[in-house]
Amino acid sequence: MNQQYPWPLLPLPYAYQALEPYIDAPTMHLHHDRHLRTYVDDLNAALARYPQLQTLSLQQLILHADRLPADIKTTVLHSAGGVYNHEFFFSGMTPGGRPPTGRLAQLLARTYGSFAEFQKEFKTLALAVFGSGYAWLCADPRGGLTIFATANQVTPLTQKLLPLICIDVWEHAYYLKHYNLRADYVDDWFRVADFGRASELYG
Ligand SMILES: [Fe+2]
Repeated sequence: MNQQYPWPLLPLPYAYQALEPYIDAPTMHLHHDRHLRTYVDDLNAALARYPQLQTLSLQQLILHADRLPADIKTTVLHSAGGVYNHEFFFSGMTPGGRPPTGRLAQLLARTYGSFAEFQKEFKTLALAVFGSGYAWLCADPRGGLTIFATANQVTPLTQKLLPLICIDVWEHAYYLKHYNLRADYVDDWFRVADFGRASELYG
């Protein structure tokens, strides 16, 4: 995630079919090869005339919106957020999924009662996202856990939160396989969600 201009289309960290039957290969091709590529291409095009911005990381572009020229600000925020969120989302899945471990597992149980209860609340949150966006599990600066939704390609970074895992609930993430049944998609996402990685990020 710490690449710089021109932004590459990073490959998925697993094969396109690796998450089947829960997330199918055609969905992963559409999502990665077309949607993520569009964000990458739009970001590179927007920054092409601004060499002074080409040395910044994705996080810096997102966190220092005040430095962005007015004519590209909206495009850069949307596309940099799109690249960041998608790379984070794809990295948060793994074949077979992994449960939380260590301190994160303990804190999830303490905060929500159990991992199953957390999953229920997270699913409710994901289903409540109106239109396009993401549901996130993040750590706050004091180490507590928080779950919340972001619209479109807004990231949690501007809220000084450490993202641990997210689910993309844009329709492009699931309509090929799950049609309009977001609840089924969320259930399937839990089968491949990498809470082991989230635990490593939490530390
Ligand atoms: Fe997406």
